[in-house]
Amino acid sequence: MIRVAPSILAADFTALGAEARAVEAGGADWLHLDVMDGQFVPNLTFGPPIIASLRRATSLPFDVHLMVERPEALIPATVEAGAQWITVHVETCPHLNRTLNWLRSLGVHPGVSLNPGTPLSAIEEVIPYIDQVLVMTVNPGFGGQRLIPNAVEKVRRCREMLTTAGSQAELSVDGGVTVDTIGSLVGAGATVVVAGSSIFGHSSGPAAGISELRAAAGQLR
Ligand code: DX5
Ligand code: ZN
Repeated sequence: MIRVAPSILAADFTALGAEARAVEAGGADWLHLDVMDGQFVPNLTFGPPIIASLRRATSLPFDVHLMVERPEALIPATVEAGAQWITVHVETCPHLNRTLNWLRSLGVHPGVSLNPGTPLSAIEEVIPYIDQVLVMTVNPGFGGQRLIPNAVEKVRRCREMLTTAGSQAELSVDGGVTVDTIGSLVGAGATVVVAGSSIFGHSSGPAAGISELRAAAGQLR
């Protein structure tokens, strides 16, 4: 069974608590929280105080995606705010092994993400230390973009890499996940799908967005 992780980036920011409760009631597995710093990516979102407020609105596991330079500076406050999964970008971590081990020592699931232009070989040495690989299937920074054409092929190679290494890590895809793309991404080996606009932007509401994605992936429950 895949996990569906709605990305709060596409929600109504004036009603975050209600939006989180709506996806929880609609069958979401995780809540994906995109922290952006206006440096690593050309957009700004929110940080630990808003994550801490959301923590009081829902019991969904929090999957925090740190799209920031020097993510280490934000890690303690993000753990304190109630994250269960924290993902850093390989492009931002010169001491990736140390950062991932530190995350685990803090009691969260360590994850690593790669931009579309970053080769999978960049994470090869850290596979034994992670619980999640987050393959960016668009260039990070904004919701509502189209899937990058070679993304499916990259997911397939990532799946092979994890299998060869004997890793049980989740393989997440983030960006451009729609009813048209989810089937090939899951077929290529994704176990977690992050989706913003196709869930929060669905004309019949987020619950319909979640069930249509599951149906398109052949995973109705
Ligand atoms: C993009 C973020 C994504 C984003 C996906 O930088 O990491 O999580 O919310 O949005 P959609 O699903 O609209 O492509
Ligand atoms: Zn994300």
